[in-house]
Amino acid sequence: MKKKPQRIKEILKSNKLNLPVVTAGWVKTFRNDRFIALNDGSTLDNLQLVIDPEKYPEDFLKKISTGAAVYAEGELVKSLGKGQDVEVLVDKLEILGESDPETYPIQPKRHSLEFLREKAHLRPRTTLFGAIMRVRSRLAFAIHKYFQENDFLYLNTPIITGIDAEGAGQMFQVTTLDLKNPPRNEEGQIDYKKDFFGKKTNLTVSGQLEAETYAMALGKVYTFGPTFRAENSNTTRHLAEFWMVEPEVAFMDLDGNMDLAEDFVKYVISDILTHHRKDLEFLEKRLLNEEKSLPQNKRSDMPLIEKLEFVLNNRFVRISYTEAIEILRQSKPFKKKKFQYPVEWGLDLQSEHERYLVEKHFKSPVIIFDYPAKIKAFYMRLNPDGNTVRAMDVLFPGIGEIIGGSQREERLDVLIEKMKQMGIDPEELWWYVDLRRYGTAIHSGFGLGFERLVQFVTGMGNIRDVIPYPRTPKNAEF
Ligand code: 4AD
Ligand code: MG
Repeated sequence: MKKKPQRIKEILKSNKLNLPVVTAGWVKTFRNDRFIALNDGSTLDNLQLVIDPEKYPEDFLKKISTGAAVYAEGELVKSLGKGQDVEVLVDKLEILGESDPETYPIQPKRHSLEFLREKAHLRPRTTLFGAIMRVRSRLAFAIHKYFQENDFLYLNTPIITGIDAEGAGQMFQVTTLDLKNPPRNEEGQIDYKKDFFGKKTNLTVSGQLEAETYAMALGKVYTFGPTFRAENSNTTRHLAEFWMVEPEVAFMDLDGNMDLAEDFVKYVISDILTHHRKDLEFLEKRLLNEEKSLPQNKRSDMPLIEKLEFVLNNRFVRISYTEAIEILRQSKPFKKKKFQYPVEWGLDLQSEHERYLVEKHFKSPVIIFDYPAKIKAFYMRLNPDGNTVRAMDVLFPGIGEIIGGSQREERLDVLIEKMKQMGIDPEELWWYVDLRRYGTAIHSGFGLGFERLVQFVTGMGNIRDVIPYPRTPKNAEF
């Protein structure tokens, strides 16, 4: 490789005809011993390289196969063929890395998503995964942009935590103890005093509790990091390792929290519509194709881009949990006993209920607030009715819960009472309780599941296809 290659996106954009270009990428297809479709991941489009087969020996041409890495120098010219405006007349072609056509799994044909999951190290070579990952990256950038522009402080909360009791699901333990022969205390239990941190530690399920301490000093903070949950949920919406965005704001109540969530999600969706049209158009086509084989009632109501614009242009419906239960109990599926799970005040809403509200009843994103205290975490602020807490869930079509948050309990006595009721030792979370001792004030925040957002924006049905290397029960290959 003699010169620094330009990115194909830039070459195609520049349109500088009759000038020299340098490019490098992976061969998508090679036709008629003459036309190479080259992709370097910078854009959905391939760059067509045209070579003169007379100039190369037979065995060299054989090495130009799908998946091979090549470097080329040449001249950008107007293309006479269909399918592209410009192409490169190649002067110099170098094969950087061959790809055995007998074994290379990513052939230029349709592969199932299941198959590609098993080839997760090579699936980014497909047009589809290129598009998904570019969208994912830009969404992450837009999230930082939103918070930075709105004067939030980016906070890195710990990944290994001593918190044992957040109530957000099962935790993965972190230990350096010898599992075959762990040290024991006098009662015969494992002696975590001898463990690396001198106490039992886990991977975090959420950065919220630590984020609260910083919000109560710096006003507006957000985290954006990996979180871990050891639930055995084999669904299309759950990962054992996923990324969460958690803003936390002092002096903000639940209404402010709902406004923030809505404004934030709309900003990020508007950004992706502006900056990744091409990828979204491709993803929209893929979805339409995939849904062709489904019966009408299983297909999306709207094409992908229209759906994103719909979210952008409509106010999210806001209803209380109590209203939601009333609507559900009046609904056809409830009366016809079509719901699998019961609908009763006090029980958690199941995904079938959430989907009915969002997809059938309101046909719009919905924020449900004021849930029964019993089904929500200890830190949510108790309402004057003594039964409900200032919680909110944002529900999206096709996804269900995309955001969960609340106004936090800022009253010391109420918090301690609640912890005791829920079997959480206030001593263990002494630092969290301390916040209510020194300069307490109302504050609120929420958590957005990043992969669920990527799913919504890309229209991908399975969360395993929107993260490079999904971690799910019995699956940690790569
Ligand atoms: O509703 P959750 O459990 O809320 C919290 O953890 C709070 N501490 C957040 C806060 O108030 N700061 O999780 C937040 C979001 C969910 O709405 C969902 O989108 C996503 O995280 N989520 C998951 N995403 C993928 N896989 C899983 N196993 C998930 N569990 C939750
Ligand atoms: Mg939740």
